[in-house]
Amino acid sequence: MAASDPAADSVDPSRIPCPGAGHPAFHLRDGELWCEDCRVADLAAEFGTPLYVYSGAAIDSRVGAVRAAFGADARICYAVKANSNLTVLRRMHAHGIGFDVVSGGELERLRAAGVPTDGVVFAGVGKEPWEIDAAVAAGILFFNVESEHELPLLAAAGRRAGVQVPVALRLNPDVDAGTHAYISTGKKDNKFGIALDRAGEVVAAIVRDPNLRLAGYHVHLGSQLQEVSPYVAALDKVEAFVDAAPEHGAGVTHYDLGGGFGIGYGKGAELDVTAVAAALLPRLRARGWQPVIEPGRYLVGDAGALVTAVLGTKQQGGSRFLLVDAAMNDLLRPALYAAEHPIVPVAARPGEPAVVDVVGPVCETGDFLARRRSLPPCARGDLLAVLGAGAYGASMASNYNTRRRPAEVLVDGRAARLVRRRETFAQLFANEVEL
Ligand code: LLP
Repeated sequence: MAASDPAADSVDPSRIPCPGAGHPAFHLRDGELWCEDCRVADLAAEFGTPLYVYSGAAIDSRVGAVRAAFGADARICYAVKANSNLTVLRRMHAHGIGFDVVSGGELERLRAAGVPTDGVVFAGVGKEPWEIDAAVAAGILFFNVESEHELPLLAAAGRRAGVQVPVALRLNPDVDAGTHAYISTGKKDNKFGIALDRAGEVVAAIVRDPNLRLAGYHVHLGSQLQEVSPYVAALDKVEAFVDAAPEHGAGVTHYDLGGGFGIGYGKGAELDVTAVAAALLPRLRARGWQPVIEPGRYLVGDAGALVTAVLGTKQQGGSRFLLVDAAMNDLLRPALYAAEHPIVPVAARPGEPAVVDVVGPVCETGDFLARRRSLPPCARGDLLAVLGAGAYGASMASNYNTRRRPAEVLVDGRAARLVRRRETFAQLFANEVEL
């Protein structure tokens, strides 16, 4: 698939960049929001709200950008958790990239999507035996081992299957990625990875076991990183560890630097992936290690918007509320991390902006999509688009308050394809049989 050319989009004078959109796929024409060549208001009318809208071209161009930065010999393993829609997974596969999974369920998704599983890396602090067996049978690229108790389980699975199980050790380099505490993973107090002072013994256990093979090292420092320096600091520590004993480096073929490539969310700059590649690749090449990267958000975050309809307005105490039909169950990030997503009207009304809290119907004070946000005047029935919602939006949605999870639509030019139906209430109750 050809990557879209953002520059080409921006020279079309009828397309005005949409404030806060990280990709020109979401832009304004005559004051209205469009996704590629679809009017977002038309999509809302056809598919209802709340609705996730994804741009295929935005996904394609982000994959192109990462590939251009890291070169053809790096393995891109898309982090399935960011957006696990089967159609999105198929699109990633069409680009020839592999996957990073963290559960047997995500592996099942790949199977359901009909994509190969040999380019899969499997991380997670607590893998269950059935998940290990399934991944060994799937012939994945390697396991990212983060807990010592997994080694005998992996070895036993390999013995049963008659294969040597490839293992990359996930090291916890104790590097501060400068990100939100809930999504920082590379500090020594986090549950992830194996501390460097334990790692030598773990390597020895892997090397001793005929059913295991030390394929490499993995570090994932956290999510939404903005700086190159944590990636460099982690590699410094891994190289020092490898150089500490010949056994630590023997036979190693891969260095998996994790994901975490940050996007702008309408405020900051995104991570300079080219600078990350420039800082790391020569060092990896010198050691003959193939780079593996696990971007999730960077590939899909700016490719998605959550479209929601205004149910009403309300003024109470010192607050003005804009009540919308999307809630924390549809997009959890604002409630969970105080994440700030850009919000734009799908068709702006003239008038003075007002500072409002954009809140959903869920019975929690923490149910908000934005607080103290300046927005143009809005009335019941108007549509808003929450931007930067393609990653960790639909994939973190729940049925809290017995709400059906939203429909999802993938846009390609003028075509809009329903890629996930809105749930039905019958589906919500289906498992609650009387036993
Ligand atoms: N690799 C591993 C081992 C991971 O744990 C993650 C994310 C990724 C790659 C992909 O990270 P990304 O490139 O998407 O930043 N729900 C949170 C993010 C949690 C990320 C968990 N792990 C959020 O909405 O910000």
